[in-house]
Amino acid sequence: MPKESDIIRADELTFEYITDESAAGGKAIDSVSFTVKRGSFTAIIGRNGSGKSTLAKNMNALLFPTGGKLWVDGYDTSNEEYLWDIRRCAAMVFQNPDNQLVSTIVEDDVAFGPENLGITPGKIRDRVDEALKDVGMYEFRKKAPHLLSGGQKQRIAIAGAMAMHPDCIIMDEPTAMLDPKGRSAVLNIAHKLHRRGMTIVLITHFMEEAATADDVIIMDGGHIVMKGTPEEVFSRADELRAINLDIPIAVRLAEHIRAAGIDLPKSIVTEDELADFILKRTETHDKGQ
Ligand SMILES: Nc1ncnc2c1ncn2[C@@H]1O[C@H](COP(=O)(O)OP(=O)(O)OP(=O)(O)O)[C@@H](O)[C@H]1O
Ligand SMILES: [Mg+2]
Repeated sequence: MPKESDIIRADELTFEYITDESAAGGKAIDSVSFTVKRGSFTAIIGRNGSGKSTLAKNMNALLFPTGGKLWVDGYDTSNEEYLWDIRRCAAMVFQNPDNQLVSTIVEDDVAFGPENLGITPGKIRDRVDEALKDVGMYEFRKKAPHLLSGGQKQRIAIAGAMAMHPDCIIMDEPTAMLDPKGRSAVLNIAHKLHRRGMTIVLITHFMEEAATADDVIIMDGGHIVMKGTPEEVFSRADELRAINLDIPIAVRLAEHIRAAGIDLPKSIVTEDELADFILKRTETHDKGQ
């Protein structure tokens, strides 16, 4: 059967936490519809409490819709029969690496996911080695996770997800607790996996990270308030400010440069793009002299 081109599809998905026996907790996700294209790199951004983690947990069948529908790889997540198909397809990486490393030795930790999937020990060995090499942590395989830096631990968590051979990795603010070096290592790994064909869903507070995605979804108060390419979304800087979101540095700088009368394309959203544009312009200018 051919795979659907949308690996994740939500149709008026709603999720409400029930906080005690009688009172409903309000809708953490309120009737959202969207798709994630197979093989894409999708960033989800939104301020605290906007529903991003709730959405991620629904995509991994850790929570089940209380309204609407969500499909992962064509599997309806509200049908518990598909739980393991969904978790095999979409692996999760969480914000706090300490909460997701369960073993005292790195390689045992990475083996944990495939063990749960019932993979044979010989195959697990291969998968663990391969995943650790992918995240550049193979030489740390015999070490104790608690001796590693936050960024290294998060790379182990990603290796654990990779070892399940998922089609998609959902990362819920994987860089939030990391220093700049750890952050860029994790973002680079996400992009490396994406180049290899893996679907990446990256939830992040860092606009610079979102600017490197193919598609961006912006949440506010349980709703999707914007979606599109980084160019489409970040060129609407005033609307982003209105919902208290940051603007990528490159977009802010471009606004300043434009205000000074220099014509800059609206498509510039990353620092690399801005630097390229300025360099090309300088070269043309120099040649003209
Ligand atoms: N276990 C829970 N029980 C009750 N309400 C919850 C629970 N978890 C989250 N909520 C509420 O659901 C809403 C969405 O929370 P969620 O954690 O999904 O937001 P978020 O966008 O991930 O926020 P953050 O950026 O802080 O991680 C918030 O109003 C939050 O208070
Ligand atoms: Mg969250």
